[in-house]
Amino acid sequence: MDNLILKNLQVLVSEEDIQKRVKEIADQINKDYEGQEIVLISVLKGSVVFAADLIRHINVPVQLEFIRLSSYGNEMRSSGKVKAIDLTLPNMNGKNVLIVEDIIDTGTTANFLTSYFKLQHGIDNIKFVTLLNKECARKHEVQVDYSGFIIDDYFVVGYGLDYSGYYRNLPYVGYFS
Ligand code: IMP
Ligand code: MG
Repeated sequence: MDNLILKNLQVLVSEEDIQKRVKEIADQINKDYEGQEIVLISVLKGSVVFAADLIRHINVPVQLEFIRLSSYGNEMRSSGKVKAIDLTLPNMNGKNVLIVEDIIDTGTTANFLTSYFKLQHGIDNIKFVTLLNKECARKHEVQVDYSGFIIDDYFVVGYGLDYSGYYRNLPYVGYFS
């Protein structure tokens, strides 16, 4: 762990700003899905903290499911490949699926999920809600339906995001300077 504290950790998005924005996103989702049900699918492990906070502000009938993917490994750059670790889900037929992401970076993961849900579940209108949106790093076009914060090309940690498995516990989003 010692050599993980590479440099100083700076706050990029504060806990207060995150909490305020999460509530705003949930309010928007509640409006958009009034009278309907949704299935939130949290992409593990990174989005678990965001999903846990978001779901507590949702007031339409909601189910929570998890899938587990990996694309970064222990690096600070996306590998460009998506490793599916667990894609087990109940029948999604006719459901309003909202994928919960911690961050959309190159868009590789979102692109993979869009194809996967179309082919495997016959759903061609999955939506994405992400806390962080690194638009400047896109390699694949992604329609991001709900986005918390657009950020520059930093490698960030905290609020679910990790470096080599650590820092997910931070209540804010930080970067190394
Ligand atoms: P993408 O496939 O390149 O869009 O990246 C998707 C996944 O890579 C995210 O869900 C994160 O788990 C991880 N990731 C991307 N950028 C960062 C970062 O700055 N810090 C930590 N994890 C990241
Ligand atoms: Mg992730």
